Amino acid sequence: MSKRILMITGSPRANGNSTKLAEAFAAGAMAAGSTVEILDACSLNMDGCHGDASCHERGCCGLKDDGVKLHELMCSSDVLVLVTPIYWKSFSSQIKKVVDRLYPFAAPKPRALCTVKESCLIATAGNPDPAVFGPIKEEFELVNTLLKFECKGMVLAPGLGGPDAVDEHPEYIKEAARLGMRVSSPAVDTSNPLLEKNHYLEKMKSYWL
Ligand SMILES: Cc1cc2nc3c(=O)[nH]c(=O)nc-3n(C[C@H](O)[C@H](O)[C@H](O)COP(=O)(O)O)c2cc1C
Repeated sequence: MSKRILMITGSPRANGNSTKLAEAFAAGAMAAGSTVEILDACSLNMDGCHGDASCHERGCCGLKDDGVKLHELMCSSDVLVLVTPIYWKSFSSQIKKVVDRLYPFAAPKPRALCTVKESCLIATAGNPDPAVFGPIKEEFELVNTLLKFECKGMVLAPGLGGPDAVDEHPEYIKEAARLGMRVSSPAVDTSNPLLEKNHYLEKMKSYWL
Protein backbone atom coordinates (compact mmCIF):
# COMPACT_ATOMS: atom_id res chain seq x y z
CA MET A 1 0.00 0.00 0.00
CA SER A 2 1.50 3.36 -0.95
CA LYS A 3 1.83 6.01 1.73
CA ARG A 4 1.73 9.79 1.73
CA ILE A 5 4.93 10.81 3.44
CA LEU A 6 5.63 14.26 4.83
CA MET A 7 9.33 14.92 5.46
CA ILE A 8 10.41 18.04 7.34
CA THR A 9 14.08 18.90 6.99
CA GLY A 10 15.77 21.15 9.52
CA SER A 11 19.33 21.93 8.51
CA PRO A 12 20.26 25.48 7.49
CA ARG A 13 23.22 23.94 5.63
CA ALA A 14 22.28 23.63 1.97
CA ASN A 15 22.70 20.03 0.82
CA GLY A 16 24.22 19.02 4.15
CA ASN A 17 24.41 15.60 5.79
CA SER A 18 20.87 15.32 7.09
CA THR A 19 19.38 16.61 3.84
CA LYS A 20 21.27 13.96 1.86
CA LEU A 21 19.89 11.26 4.14
CA ALA A 22 16.42 12.76 3.65
CA GLU A 23 16.85 12.49 -0.13
CA ALA A 24 17.93 8.85 0.18
CA PHE A 25 14.90 8.09 2.35
CA ALA A 26 12.65 9.84 -0.18
CA ALA A 27 14.19 7.93 -3.08
CA GLY A 28 13.62 4.60 -1.31
CA ALA A 29 10.06 5.57 -0.39
CA MET A 30 9.19 6.66 -3.92
CA ALA A 31 10.75 3.51 -5.37
CA ALA A 32 8.36 1.55 -3.14
CA GLY A 33 5.35 3.55 -4.39
CA SER A 34 4.91 6.29 -1.82
CA THR A 35 4.38 9.95 -2.53
CA VAL A 36 6.77 12.25 -0.70
CA GLU A 37 6.47 15.92 0.17
CA ILE A 38 9.55 17.61 1.61
CA LEU A 39 9.04 20.74 3.65
CA ASP A 40 12.17 22.71 4.55
CA ALA A 41 11.65 24.09 8.05
CA CYS A 42 14.42 26.63 7.43
CA SER A 43 12.43 28.43 4.76
CA LEU A 44 9.11 28.44 6.59
CA ASN A 45 7.73 31.81 7.59
CA MET A 46 6.45 30.49 10.88
CA ASP A 47 6.46 31.89 14.39
CA GLY A 48 7.08 29.80 17.49
CA CYS A 49 4.16 28.52 19.54
CA HIS A 50 2.54 31.33 21.58
CA GLY A 51 1.60 28.88 24.31
CA ASP A 52 -1.97 30.01 25.03
CA ALA A 53 -3.32 26.52 24.18
CA SER A 54 -6.33 28.10 22.45
CA CYS A 55 -5.68 25.60 19.64
CA HIS A 56 -7.08 22.81 21.76
CA GLU A 57 -10.54 24.38 21.65
CA ARG A 58 -10.31 25.87 18.18
CA GLY A 59 -8.95 22.70 16.57
CA CYS A 60 -5.98 24.42 14.97
CA CYS A 61 -3.39 27.08 15.70
CA GLY A 62 -4.61 30.67 15.62
CA LEU A 63 -1.43 31.97 13.97
CA LYS A 64 -1.96 32.54 10.25
CA ASP A 65 1.55 31.91 8.93
CA ASP A 66 3.18 28.90 7.23
CA GLY A 67 1.91 26.85 10.14
CA VAL A 68 -1.36 26.71 8.19
CA LYS A 69 0.43 24.72 5.49
CA LEU A 70 1.98 22.49 8.16
CA HIS A 71 -1.49 21.86 9.59
CA GLU A 72 -2.92 21.01 6.15
CA LEU A 73 -0.10 18.57 5.45
CA MET A 74 -0.56 16.91 8.84
CA CYS A 75 -4.19 16.41 7.87
CA SER A 76 -3.39 14.83 4.50
CA SER A 77 -0.29 12.67 5.15
CA ASP A 78 0.17 9.19 6.60
CA VAL A 79 3.75 9.38 7.85
CA LEU A 80 5.77 12.23 9.37
CA VAL A 81 9.56 12.12 9.05
CA LEU A 82 11.57 14.63 11.06
CA VAL A 83 15.08 15.27 9.71
CA THR A 84 17.53 17.19 11.85
CA PRO A 85 21.17 17.84 12.57
CA ILE A 86 21.91 17.44 16.27
CA TYR A 87 22.30 20.90 17.81
CA TRP A 88 23.30 20.93 21.46
CA LYS A 89 22.20 17.26 21.71
CA SER A 90 18.70 18.14 20.51
CA PHE A 91 16.67 19.13 17.42
CA SER A 92 17.84 22.13 15.41
CA SER A 93 15.83 25.22 16.39
CA GLN A 94 13.99 25.06 13.05
CA ILE A 95 12.70 21.54 13.78
CA LYS A 96 12.00 22.39 17.41
CA LYS A 97 9.71 25.16 16.22
CA VAL A 98 7.85 22.67 14.02
CA VAL A 99 7.50 20.25 16.93
CA ASP A 100 6.10 23.03 19.10
CA ARG A 101 3.60 23.95 16.39
CA LEU A 102 2.37 20.33 16.36
CA TYR A 103 1.03 20.95 19.88
CA PRO A 104 -2.60 21.34 18.68
CA PHE A 105 -2.59 17.65 17.74
CA ALA A 106 -2.03 16.65 21.36
CA ALA A 107 -5.70 17.47 22.06
CA PRO A 108 -8.56 15.16 21.02
CA LYS A 109 -10.44 17.54 18.68
CA PRO A 110 -7.46 18.49 16.47
CA ARG A 111 -5.98 14.98 16.74
CA ALA A 112 -9.12 13.62 15.11
CA LEU A 113 -8.31 15.76 12.04
CA CYS A 114 -4.69 14.61 11.84
CA THR A 115 -4.17 11.71 9.42
CA VAL A 116 -0.55 11.00 10.42
CA LYS A 117 -0.28 7.67 12.26
CA GLU A 118 3.39 6.82 11.81
CA SER A 119 6.71 8.59 12.22
CA CYS A 120 10.44 8.31 11.58
CA LEU A 121 13.47 10.27 12.72
CA ILE A 122 16.63 11.01 10.76
CA ALA A 123 19.41 12.74 12.70
CA THR A 124 23.10 13.42 12.11
CA ALA A 125 25.75 14.43 14.65
CA GLY A 126 29.40 15.40 14.70
CA ASN A 127 30.18 13.28 17.73
CA PRO A 128 31.22 9.75 16.69
CA ASP A 129 29.68 8.24 19.86
CA PRO A 130 26.11 7.00 19.16
CA ALA A 131 25.26 7.89 22.77
CA VAL A 132 24.98 11.50 21.51
CA PHE A 133 21.48 10.56 20.30
CA GLY A 134 20.20 9.61 23.78
CA PRO A 135 18.41 12.92 24.46
CA ILE A 136 16.81 13.25 21.01
CA LYS A 137 15.53 9.68 21.17
CA GLU A 138 13.76 10.56 24.42
CA GLU A 139 12.33 13.76 22.92
CA PHE A 140 11.13 11.91 19.83
CA GLU A 141 9.53 9.23 22.00
CA LEU A 142 7.61 11.94 23.83
CA VAL A 143 6.37 13.39 20.52
CA ASN A 144 5.20 9.92 19.47
CA THR A 145 3.47 9.28 22.78
CA LEU A 146 1.63 12.61 22.93
CA LEU A 147 0.65 12.69 19.27
CA LYS A 148 -0.13 8.96 19.09
CA PHE A 149 2.34 8.16 16.32
CA GLU A 150 3.81 4.73 15.87
CA CYS A 151 7.56 5.09 15.38
CA LYS A 152 8.55 3.07 12.30
CA GLY A 153 12.29 3.59 12.61
CA MET A 154 15.20 5.96 13.00
CA VAL A 155 18.40 6.64 11.12
CA LEU A 156 20.89 8.02 13.63
CA ALA A 157 24.20 8.86 11.96
CA PRO A 158 27.09 9.86 14.26
CA GLY A 159 30.55 11.08 13.25
CA LEU A 160 29.36 13.54 10.58
CA GLY A 161 31.12 16.76 11.55
CA GLY A 162 32.07 18.17 8.14
CA PRO A 163 29.56 19.55 5.65
CA ASP A 164 29.95 16.58 3.26
CA ALA A 165 30.95 13.96 5.83
CA VAL A 166 28.03 11.70 4.90
CA ASP A 167 29.54 11.20 1.43
CA GLU A 168 32.14 8.97 3.13
CA HIS A 169 29.40 6.87 4.74
CA PRO A 170 27.36 5.05 2.10
CA GLU A 171 26.08 2.75 4.87
CA TYR A 172 24.00 5.63 6.29
CA ILE A 173 22.65 6.48 2.84
CA LYS A 174 21.61 2.86 2.33
CA GLU A 175 20.06 2.69 5.79
CA ALA A 176 17.97 5.78 5.02
CA ALA A 177 16.87 4.39 1.64
CA ARG A 178 15.96 1.07 3.22
CA LEU A 179 13.88 2.75 5.90
CA GLY A 180 12.04 4.75 3.23
CA MET A 181 11.25 1.52 1.40
CA ARG A 182 10.26 -0.37 4.54
CA VAL A 183 7.93 2.35 5.76
CA SER A 184 6.26 2.47 2.37
CA SER A 185 5.87 -1.24 1.95
CA PRO A 186 6.84 -3.64 4.74
CA ALA A 187 6.74 -6.52 2.24
CA VAL A 188 9.55 -5.11 0.09
CA ASP A 189 12.85 -6.93 0.51
CA THR A 190 15.28 -4.17 1.41
CA SER A 191 18.22 -6.47 2.13
CA ASN A 192 20.04 -5.41 -1.01
CA PRO A 193 18.94 -2.07 -2.48
CA LEU A 194 21.50 -2.51 -5.27
CA LEU A 195 19.20 -5.08 -6.83
CA GLU A 196 16.51 -2.43 -6.99
CA LYS A 197 18.67 0.38 -8.31
CA ASN A 198 16.75 0.84 -11.57
CA HIS A 199 13.76 1.92 -9.57
CA TYR A 200 15.53 4.74 -7.80
CA LEU A 201 15.87 8.34 -8.72
CA GLU A 202 18.73 9.12 -11.07
CA LYS A 203 20.43 11.40 -8.60
CA MET A 204 20.71 8.72 -5.96
CA LYS A 205 22.58 6.22 -8.12
CA SER A 206 26.00 7.58 -7.28
CA TYR A 207 25.55 6.51 -3.69
CA TRP A 208 24.87 2.90 -4.49
CA LEU A 209 27.15 2.13 -7.43
C1 LIG B 1 24.89 25.01 16.53
C2 LIG B 1 25.44 23.62 16.39
C3 LIG B 1 25.35 22.75 17.45
C4 LIG B 1 25.82 21.44 17.34
N1 LIG B 1 25.70 20.61 18.41
C5 LIG B 1 26.17 19.34 18.31
C6 LIG B 1 26.07 18.45 19.42
O1 LIG B 1 25.57 18.78 20.49
N2 LIG B 1 26.56 17.19 19.29
C7 LIG B 1 27.15 16.75 18.10
O2 LIG B 1 27.57 15.60 18.04
N3 LIG B 1 27.21 17.57 17.02
C8 LIG B 1 26.74 18.85 17.08
N4 LIG B 1 26.83 19.69 16.00
C9 LIG B 1 27.34 19.14 14.71
C10 LIG B 1 26.22 18.73 13.75
O3 LIG B 1 25.23 17.97 14.40
C11 LIG B 1 26.76 17.86 12.59
O4 LIG B 1 27.79 18.52 11.91
C12 LIG B 1 25.67 17.46 11.61
O5 LIG B 1 26.11 16.38 10.79
C13 LIG B 1 25.24 18.62 10.73
O6 LIG B 1 24.23 18.18 9.85
P1 LIG B 1 23.85 19.01 8.52
O7 LIG B 1 25.04 18.90 7.60
O8 LIG B 1 22.64 18.33 7.99
O9 LIG B 1 23.58 20.41 8.96
C14 LIG B 1 26.40 20.99 16.10
C15 LIG B 1 26.49 21.89 15.03
C16 LIG B 1 26.02 23.19 15.16
C17 LIG B 1 26.14 24.14 13.99
